Amino acid sequence: MLSTSLLPKHHSKWSDRQREVLQGIVKDFSLSTPQLEALTVQFVDQMRVGLSEQQSKDLAMIPTFVTGRPDGKERGSFLALDLGGTNLRVCLISLKGDHKLESHHKAFKVSDHLQQADVKELMDFIAVSINEFITSEHINAKICEHPSDSESLELGFTFSFPVAQTAVDAGKLLRWTKGFSCPGAVGADIVQLLQEALDRNKVNVHVAALVNDTVGTLLAHSYINPGTYIGAIFGTGTNGAYVEKTHNIKTMTSDASEMIINIEWGNFDKEKAFLPVTIFDNKLDRESINPGVHVFEKMISGMYLGEITRNVLLHLIDQRVLFEGTSSPKLNQHWVFETKFMSAIEEDDSASLIPTAQILEQELDIKINTQADREIVKFVCQLVGIRAARLSAMATAAVIRQGVEVGALREYEYPLQLSIYDKGDVDLNGQPKIESLSISGNGNGNGNSNRVVDPNKQTIHVGIDGSVFEHYPHFKERMEQCLVELLGPHVMDIVKLGIARDGSGVGAALAALIATKAANDSR
Ligand code: BGC
Repeated sequence: MLSTSLLPKHHSKWSDRQREVLQGIVKDFSLSTPQLEALTVQFVDQMRVGLSEQQSKDLAMIPTFVTGRPDGKERGSFLALDLGGTNLRVCLISLKGDHKLESHHKAFKVSDHLQQADVKELMDFIAVSINEFITSEHINAKICEHPSDSESLELGFTFSFPVAQTAVDAGKLLRWTKGFSCPGAVGADIVQLLQEALDRNKVNVHVAALVNDTVGTLLAHSYINPGTYIGAIFGTGTNGAYVEKTHNIKTMTSDASEMIINIEWGNFDKEKAFLPVTIFDNKLDRESINPGVHVFEKMISGMYLGEITRNVLLHLIDQRVLFEGTSSPKLNQHWVFETKFMSAIEEDDSASLIPTAQILEQELDIKINTQADREIVKFVCQLVGIRAARLSAMATAAVIRQGVEVGALREYEYPLQLSIYDKGDVDLNGQPKIESLSISGNGNGNGNSNRVVDPNKQTIHVGIDGSVFEHYPHFKERMEQCLVELLGPHVMDIVKLGIARDGSGVGAALAALIATKAANDSR
């Protein structure tokens, strides 16, 4: 039974009925440490299944063919393209070595029409936008200042959707996510589609590399912080990429010792066997354009958090504990409660919550709202926001765990605390029986020690991009708090969550450089 201590301490008088109904919501959205630990175990399990089976997996674990990480010495100018949401960004990235770079970019709006149009129309739009960027920004002249080895204009394409790569410059779209549904793309080679559109529109650019935004983020962060192990996005969508030992990847062979894997973690536990989804998540999923897919992403990312919150608010209205039981035609509309409203409401620390009232009135046409109403709305935002941050930390902890146990972090000693379970004892809904052992990365049993960590040697850098991580209040702190719960008190001495701004642009340029070099070397 959850105690009332989970309800906020300083609030106006809430009725017994309000407290009783909210208690149920608290129960639905709270994730205890043992529950998250159990999810971490499932996550690692699903990672390993994904690394060993080709088809029908929750976590696709896509080999990216990117086998090396930048060290900050790279030089040259490359075009980068970033498509993953409502904006298309075309960038010129000039890598200057010594961890320094310069970037120019231009954003183009991808209209609702284009997000559903035939993929040929989308690709033509991209080709024309690239052409406009090259002409208006005098790109050829800028490239002459920081030339690359190549004679043609080389482009790295960050395409933030699940793609089964067959080479660093080839890959087939598995499915659309985040509201896109252009026919003609699923199963087709994305690089080929873009190259054909560039050729059709007489734009003299060569697509050298295709990367997921998480991979781009990992590469970009590594340019500044060599040795970055994870790249993650917490934005409109969510996903992670990390460095895996190739001998653990059973779905392909490679001569390289390590390769970046695109996890596609938005699809974790697609059967909802372990994720504690609520009726509010199920409603959202059913009404989305891709039901049954990326359920985990729908609990975490910016595209969906506002809609989950709206579903909860409507339930509270129907229970007559909010806004005197009356909604507005506006609030009744799907997707109208945007995640940015949650950010503003969570940011509102005023006693009277007037900024919250303004959002309710101006954006949602809720003209009459009492102090208690506003407090309840804020409380719901907090519950949904905290759950998102804790699930994000869970996925991050699982990837670190994989690295420490069998992957790229194995050779180091990390004083991380990894709880060891017998899976049969885990009850995700109650209090699992956990036998908690502390082990270190090399399995010698000395983890969780008090020894001083050498930050230069031991830091596990996690490069993160995305509006939720960057702008949602307290998201980072909530993630860090949860990482401490999952990986022990020393974890934040070792794991650094850093913003990798423009990871997609810089990462795409770095991927183009790596691919161009590899192509030149093999000639
Ligand atoms: C896509 C991923 C992408 C993530 C973040 C998800 O919807 O499936 O490929 O990395 O969004 O943009």
